[in-house]
Amino acid sequence: MRQIAIMGYGTIGSGVFDVVNTNREIIRKNLGEELRVKYVLDLRDFPGEPVEEVLIHDVNIILEDPEVDIVVETMGGLEPAFTFVRSALERGKSVATSNKELVAKHGVELLTLAKEKNINFFFGASVGGGIPIIRPMLRSLCADDIEEVTGILNGTTNYILTKMAQEGSSFEDALLEAQDNGFAERKPEADVEGFDACRKIAILSSIALGRQVDFEEIPTEGITGITKEDFLYAAKLGWAIKLLASSRKENGHVYAMVAPALVQPAHPLFAVCDVFNGIMVHGNMVDDVMFYGRGAGSHATASAVTADVMDAARHLHQNIYAGWSGEKQELSDVGSWEKQFLIRVEGDASREAELAQAFGQGILVDAGVAGEVGYLTPVISEKEFADAAASLSGVRGRIRVQA
Ligand code: HSE
Repeated sequence: MRQIAIMGYGTIGSGVFDVVNTNREIIRKNLGEELRVKYVLDLRDFPGEPVEEVLIHDVNIILEDPEVDIVVETMGGLEPAFTFVRSALERGKSVATSNKELVAKHGVELLTLAKEKNINFFFGASVGGGIPIIRPMLRSLCADDIEEVTGILNGTTNYILTKMAQEGSSFEDALLEAQDNGFAERKPEADVEGFDACRKIAILSSIALGRQVDFEEIPTEGITGITKEDFLYAAKLGWAIKLLASSRKENGHVYAMVAPALVQPAHPLFAVCDVFNGIMVHGNMVDDVMFYGRGAGSHATASAVTADVMDAARHLHQNIYAGWSGEKQELSDVGSWEKQFLIRVEGDASREAELAQAFGQGILVDAGVAGEVGYLTPVISEKEFADAAASLSGVRGRIRVQA
């Protein structure tokens, strides 16, 4: 029997407790031994709940118990999660975490410590909830030069954008629903301003490139500027609006960005709706590979954490190399990244010549929004677009178009 401890009994931690108990037999069959939750650490009490029997409030009980080989960290946030995880690894206990903030900020340091101790630091649930994306990238796509990772990496914003597009919901109502469903972060800005997706693309990019991509350096725009008028243009074009997190090697540059974008029906991410995440990885040999599944939620994410626990149990004193070095990956200024844009300006079709003069030959789009007209630019750089847009009067909005 393998004894584990769970640090943090919130949405994900309670999910891990459920998965281990509900799927006890299947886990025993697949692992070859039983998993047992010996401790659950939380500040709170849960009177009358089954977890009460194993609930503790002092992390040292876990750290000092030689029977606990594997620790789950589902507390979220940087501290005390970082201190607790580092202490567990220092004592020779492997760790499985769902904490993207922790991994984006301290992933390399914790991986290095695990390697020194010949144990494992697994973070498969930190990106994409229940979607197996980290392990396939590390172990299945490892013969490829990964040239692009583009994903819908935040379930909450995808849920909001889907409800706004399909049901005409207000932003606020859709966010409340996502919070009720347990998808959203404690601070909604982390979702809606794109910070959560930013950390996740930093993690995936670090794995793809084998070097540290600092999330602080990724230009990030959330969905708070998306309006119902933007959806009218999307509907007119037959396209969708998604919050995309991308990193891409192009013409000797490495770019990364998080921003809303118009996505066309032929793109594999077009049909990724509700809380689902989708991640498209492009390798120089394998070409496009697509991952899809529930990007948030208690049991989906807990399933991925528990799978990491099982892998840690299979490789108890054998470090599995992650190929993510501390060497910093320089990111190019996105000003030179070339894209197509939809710009919305006050006025009518009579502005077409002026728009063509500013951006080059594009396509006028009339979505029936009073007092304005849209224009799809040709592919131009971010800087060319920004300079041209700044020279125009009456700009009401702009949104990128995903290639
Ligand atoms: N708030 C996150 C999301 C949770 O909505 O995707 C999963 O990381």
